[in-house]
Amino acid sequence: MKYLSIKEAMKKATGKVSVRGWVYRERGSNKVKFVVLRDATDIIQCVIKKEKFSEDKFKEADKLQIEASLEVTGTIKEDKRAPSGFEIEVEEFTVVGMSDNFPLAADQNREFMDDNRHLSLRTRKMTAILKIRSTVFGALHEYFRSNGFYEYQSPIFQSVQCEGGSTLFRAEYFDKKDVFLAQTWQLYAEPAIFALEKIYTMAPSFRAEKSKTSRHLTEYWHCEMEVAWSTFKDIQDVGEGAIKHVIKKVLEVNQEELKILERDIKKIEPSLKKPFARMTYTEAIKLLKEKCKMDIEWGKDLRTIEEDKLSALFDTFIICTNYPKEVKAFYMMEAPDDSRTVQGCDFIAPEGYGEIIGGSQREHDIEKLKRRLVEMGENPGNYTFYLDTRKYGSVPHGGYGLGVERLISWVCGLDNIKDAIPFPRTPMRYKP
Ligand code: 4AD
Ligand code: MG
Repeated sequence: MKYLSIKEAMKKATGKVSVRGWVYRERGSNKVKFVVLRDATDIIQCVIKKEKFSEDKFKEADKLQIEASLEVTGTIKEDKRAPSGFEIEVEEFTVVGMSDNFPLAADQNREFMDDNRHLSLRTRKMTAILKIRSTVFGALHEYFRSNGFYEYQSPIFQSVQCEGGSTLFRAEYFDKKDVFLAQTWQLYAEPAIFALEKIYTMAPSFRAEKSKTSRHLTEYWHCEMEVAWSTFKDIQDVGEGAIKHVIKKVLEVNQEELKILERDIKKIEPSLKKPFARMTYTEAIKLLKEKCKMDIEWGKDLRTIEEDKLSALFDTFIICTNYPKEVKAFYMMEAPDDSRTVQGCDFIAPEGYGEIIGGSQREHDIEKLKRRLVEMGENPGNYTFYLDTRKYGSVPHGGYGLGVERLISWVCGLDNIKDAIPFPRTPMRYKP
């Protein structure tokens, strides 16, 4: 017997169909049982009339609880009153797996839902987000592959830090004390541009970020790229292109899911249709002072509050460039016209979703790199492999990292990044 997905069955619209799924809702009387069945594609109302079945068989239907799994054959017809506009009058059914009292209900608190994440993945909200997540991953792969990038993989066990010691996870690696989980692929990606020139990856990154915020995970998916012979502007253009491609695909594929999430698509469209707002850090500070009446000193990093105020002034992403050297990572290249600043860029999302991309042109002066490592308290001796990239045919190059869950959070309009990933990891949450 050929099972149709619920969506396919509704497309067929008439005649006999077989579908299978899980009980999404149920109600009944002693004459009839209404079961709303859910599969990966949609929901549909199924009507089981007592008169069509033996006493025992109808009892089986009567006992069905939420989340029981079921195979159903019957006649489908349009019915405006049914939840998705169609109804199946059931002629045969098989209960595949009974269900206990399902613990989740609509109004439970965040902690309870997270404790039961293995079950809450089935909710319509999480299903919608997971579908959009799938589109986002697919779109990023598609964007890079169709623009001549090779997919390349770096190690997760690493012997150096890249984004600062305070967020490093130390790994228990036999008797070794200096093994860390990847914060980024970067120091292992730069060596590969000499072979492949344009590379990207999608991989987990790890940050021992103690702050409890709606933007930080300890394990997140990182879409990173690195390009040989690039200019600083190239890096920004690729970032803008990638985000635009993601928005385009989500709008093409996921209208239904955006509706389930009640996402106002007018909030995401401008970033597809209009160029991103580009400004230097110095210009951003000026805007914050003049337009937001904020008292902010040149030289300090932009905090969440400043990024949020800035994002409220625009309806697209902002690419903020040329930050003060002190607030950025050791590998960023000095700006040619102002050595107090570096050619680094942050992409700040609209609506206060914060930094989605961090990238830069890379410093290729080996002495400057060593000096900055020492300033950070690092031993350049541990970075020999990395510094070698500047010794044998160094070329201008750069890259960025995009926090995939942060992008998904914004696209979906989520209030917590935890919902952008199936099993979130935060300082307090590592189960289930
Ligand atoms: O700005 P970051 O630290 O930059 C790097 O790691 C560079 N090495 C990337 C590169 O040039 N290849 O991190 C990049 C992005 C951030 O903009 C943010 O979107 C995301 O990674 N990110 C996080 N996402 C979720 N939870 C966290 N704790 C994150 N930390 C960074
Ligand atoms: Mg950053």
